[in-house]
Amino acid sequence: MHIRSIRCLPQIRFLVQIKIDNLVKSRTLGQQFATGLITPTLAPHRWGAKKEGGFSCEKTGRMKMLKGKKISVIGGGKMGGALIGGILSRGLLPAGNVIVSDVARERLEDLKKAHGVQTTQDNKKAVKEADVIILAVKPQNMTEVLTELQGVLDKDKLTISIAAGISTDYIEGLLKKNARVIRVMPNTPAMIGEGATAIAGGSHATGEDLALARSLFDAVGISVFVKEDLMNAVTALSGSGPAYGFVIIDALSDAGVNMGLSRDVALKLAAQTLLGAAKLCLRGDKHPAELRDMVTSPGGTTIAGLKALEEGKLRATLMAAVEAATLRAGELGKKK
Ligand SMILES: NC(=O)c1ccc[n+]([C@@H]2O[C@H](COP(=O)([O-])OP(=O)(O)OC[C@H]3O[C@@H](n4cnc5c(N)ncnc54)[C@H](OP(=O)(O)O)[C@@H]3O)[C@@H](O)[C@H]2O)c1
Repeated sequence: MHIRSIRCLPQIRFLVQIKIDNLVKSRTLGQQFATGLITPTLAPHRWGAKKEGGFSCEKTGRMKMLKGKKISVIGGGKMGGALIGGILSRGLLPAGNVIVSDVARERLEDLKKAHGVQTTQDNKKAVKEADVIILAVKPQNMTEVLTELQGVLDKDKLTISIAAGISTDYIEGLLKKNARVIRVMPNTPAMIGEGATAIAGGSHATGEDLALARSLFDAVGISVFVKEDLMNAVTALSGSGPAYGFVIIDALSDAGVNMGLSRDVALKLAAQTLLGAAKLCLRGDKHPAELRDMVTSPGGTTIAGLKALEEGKLRATLMAAVEAATLRAGELGKKK
């Protein structure tokens, strides 16, 4: 049944809610955890909840969880640097508890200057004292890094990999027995604290480990839990998604120019309009279709535009894009 017709009939909506509640109860804790039906944070991040600015319960909970922890980031490039910036700017950890290792000396100097973190070019040294290790090197460098660190990354340390297409099975196979591994797929808006991250636990990761991973990635946006076999879909949707967004913004800006607006004005209006629409969706109190209906008056301008979008098969094209990217992620994953 279409979601809007459920909204129109309170009795049916009530029954659907009971079914969902029973479904939630009938799942094991682990299943609920993996699918994001329950969240392990001390104060769970709610869909659409406003991000905290000051000392909310949520932030205090995260700080408690991370208190005294030492974090090592292997690979201080775009994502590694973004994560460090997010964690420190949110005050989740003092800079002294973060050490970053990279092969590039100048990158380390930049990170030290920007954040005051400890730096080294020696990966083994970086992980020695750390409780949590974030592997943020390119997928093609992962085998080399895991092999180098295999004697050190054991069950006493939590290893979090953000490398696209590298499974927890593969990582666990290269590390000591029972190593606690978590796989994560962030995206580039993490650089400005607006990332969308999916998290999946390996065979030996605990609930506490998942909660800790979530608190780290919530520092640079929002995060969700997924089963690992859905990571290719995540890569295709939110990992590659910023690129789709850029194309849409660019196309809308072209459309404005075509209708006589200056490039500057058209680009600003296009980007801010999508940002505003996204924020309204993330409030979570209305389905996107309901929000769309609110700006679509009978015989008006918006429905004329929407008709053109339907004729151009925008929805089907976006579905095809995510499907193609999911398949490609699978192919690339098999090559590693
Ligand atoms: N960027 C994204 O949109 C995105 C999204 C989701 C996930 N990811 C994942 O995030 C990971 C990092 O991506 P990125 O875009 O941040 O890459 P990046 O900017 O190239 O950062 C990786 C850093 O690791 C360094 N490095 C290479 N080999 C190393 C080694 N053996 N030990 C220590 N450091 C080493 C690299 O130095 P050199 O440059 O000198 O080699 C570079 O500074 C990738 O696995 C990627 O799949 C990225």
